[in-house]
Amino acid sequence: MTQWLTLSRAAHLLGISRVALQKRIRDEELPSFDGMVDAEVLQRAWPQLDLDDSGSFEKTRAIREDAFAKRLRERVLPSQEALAQRLFAQGQELAELQRTLTRYHRLIEDLRLRLESLPPALAGELGRLLDEGLAEAISVPPPADDLRALDAMLRVMSAHVTVKPSGREFFVEGSETLLKAALRAGLAPNYGCGNGNCGLCKARVVAGEARAVAPSDYRFSEAEKAQNHVLMCSCTAHSSDLVIEVLEAGLPEDIPEQRIVTKLRAVDVLTEDILRLHLQTPRSNRLRFLAGQRVTLGLTAGVANTSDLHAELPVASCPCDDRNLIFHVRRPASADFQDGGSGDFAAGLFAGRIQPGAEVSVWGPWGRFVLERESTRPLVFVAVDTGFAPINSLIEHAIAVDAAESITLYWAASRLGGQYLPNQCRAWAAALDEFHYRPLDLAALDAALAADAGVTDAEVYLAGPAGELDAVALGLRQRGLPAAQLHVEAL
Ligand code: FES
Repeated sequence: MTQWLTLSRAAHLLGISRVALQKRIRDEELPSFDGMVDAEVLQRAWPQLDLDDSGSFEKTRAIREDAFAKRLRERVLPSQEALAQRLFAQGQELAELQRTLTRYHRLIEDLRLRLESLPPALAGELGRLLDEGLAEAISVPPPADDLRALDAMLRVMSAHVTVKPSGREFFVEGSETLLKAALRAGLAPNYGCGNGNCGLCKARVVAGEARAVAPSDYRFSEAEKAQNHVLMCSCTAHSSDLVIEVLEAGLPEDIPEQRIVTKLRAVDVLTEDILRLHLQTPRSNRLRFLAGQRVTLGLTAGVANTSDLHAELPVASCPCDDRNLIFHVRRPASADFQDGGSGDFAAGLFAGRIQPGAEVSVWGPWGRFVLERESTRPLVFVAVDTGFAPINSLIEHAIAVDAAESITLYWAASRLGGQYLPNQCRAWAAALDEFHYRPLDLAALDAALAADAGVTDAEVYLAGPAGELDAVALGLRQRGLPAAQLHVEAL
């Protein structure tokens, strides 16, 4: 019996990216039907898969999450009720399989009886053929056993969610909420408070079952109840497969302007001239933004001599990084100083006047430096100095959503050692086969891009100080990169 798997589930099982599977299908190395692959064919293509190695996908994910510098989440089990329901569903599948086998068995017995009414020579020949066929079918072990067993286990441990109308998919681990799992997977669902009050994260359950795991005060209308609406921020997947209809943001204009008061958790010194700011939003008020966007930071009351300081900065973290917002701040040159502006904000940080614990208001998001949603081209990121901040956000998001077959990062520095997070970039390159990291001096950037024959076919994202980008962008355009494939963020 053919067992069809979605690409996401197959990739999840094998511990490889979905785009890597898609590439094998496009290269005609792996047959597919209607976006699905046959488990048996998959097993033949990856014969090394066995149950002892069933943690391979976990290992890959752990490496990826390490590369993001995220805390590794403790693997938690789904609730007892969810486990029971999923096991019951598998029991039902097994029972149906047994009923089918019983029907086949009766059919064989019936055939044998009918053979007795035939002439003896013919009955003997047909009986022999039947026996040989059955013996052969039973003696050959089913080739996809390991994969089926692994898939059955995964269906119990983590639920698979398909989102309509986009067709995006994600997995829910343990009893985490649908919202948390969707954000972790790089989706941009509509949401607001994050704690069951505003109703903005409503989703309609099309198939499967979702159940509440957190309290909510939001009251659904009778019509919404009848249509199976649930809150993504307070429900988890109960069945092992769930289909939901969700409003997703695809463009910057889909995201409303927000103003949130956050807490400054840490200020890390990355180099003499670069600080990393770690802000945390309240549990009940997270910032919605798309990877690559900017926000305005402002100091609220309570920090001496800093009441009017503000700065517009790109968010360096990914929207999938829960309540954490990361920023890279460059030491200001004297020309950057302005009354209360970004130069003063940065100077306040470098002088130590802005300390962990301070309240920082975040206003935004702004800008259109976001991934082209529909593009399947390879991704080339070009960061100049602290242009790495929005590029970092885009790369984390691209990896989370499996956005491209290959990612190349050029990080050009205007001074020696200007690549202030080299280990993180090397970790990406080590964890992902198709990630290429090219650190270089700014003076060598144009020649390196000119020597890269693949750039003109790629989606290119270029970010850095305004004065440094024009020549790079011009060179790319002159070498044939279409304007629609070039995305520039001048800081
Ligand atoms: S985000 Fe407000 S109720 Fe879910």
